[in-house]
Amino acid sequence: MSKLVPQILRFESLPSTNEEVASRAAAGAPEGLCVVAAEQTAGRGRMQRAWISPKNAGLYFSILLRPQFAQENWPLLTLMAAVVVHDALLNSYGLQTDIKWPNDILVNEKKLCGILAETVETPHGRAVVVGIGINLSSGSFPVELVAMATDVESVLKQRPDVEIVLQALVNSLVSYYQLLQLSGGADQLIKKWRERSSYATGKHVKVALGEETLLGVTRGLESDGALRIETTNGELKTIRAGDVAAVRASDHEVL
Ligand code: BTN
Repeated sequence: MSKLVPQILRFESLPSTNEEVASRAAAGAPEGLCVVAAEQTAGRGRMQRAWISPKNAGLYFSILLRPQFAQENWPLLTLMAAVVVHDALLNSYGLQTDIKWPNDILVNEKKLCGILAETVETPHGRAVVVGIGINLSSGSFPVELVAMATDVESVLKQRPDVEIVLQALVNSLVSYYQLLQLSGGADQLIKKWRERSSYATGKHVKVALGEETLLGVTRGLESDGALRIETTNGELKTIRAGDVAAVRASDHEVL
């Protein structure tokens, strides 16, 4: 197992750091290539959503990974990224965050960071681009985001230094990527995720699965990172994709 060696390229403005890393990967770039931009003009979020990326208001970061473990376990990379961000914010600024399955980073139930992992075909085989967007200051959240989003500066009442957060992020990435590749590393990673997430077990949630909405209580993770939910009628379901939102326990009766 070779150690991850991050190599960081910085840009003033890009459409999307994920897109930049994906096109460099397709041209043969090595594992560890990192791209950071001060702004993104076409930042991408999960489920075809846009990721609003105002200039100098966030850390917009992507890394190229070429995991050597079974592809069925690649979903663990997004859980890993969530643990990485959690620890980077704690280590750099003492900021305590929560993880919402699979990989949103929250403070007071508001979103502070999103993670988007995408696969890309390259001359050296299939690879993964892990994109991380951390709201560092409120910049100019559009009105529709104000109620749902938060940022490090608003929480800490102190403007964070993007380079300090970046350094902590890269350090944390190197060590958790190494952990994930060890024998038994997947289980250890899931344990780390569970310890950092109030969503792991006993959380009352609703899950949007396309047209269907499921109500239930979280009951831990499968070994590939899927979320187990006990539905209100007592069925155990396994969720591999979908939008999870916390609800009050009493909402189960009325929804
Ligand atoms: C989400 O919807 O929660 C995922 C958001 C991921 C945003 C980051 S910002 C850096 C990287 N480049 C992108 O275009 N998206 C990711």
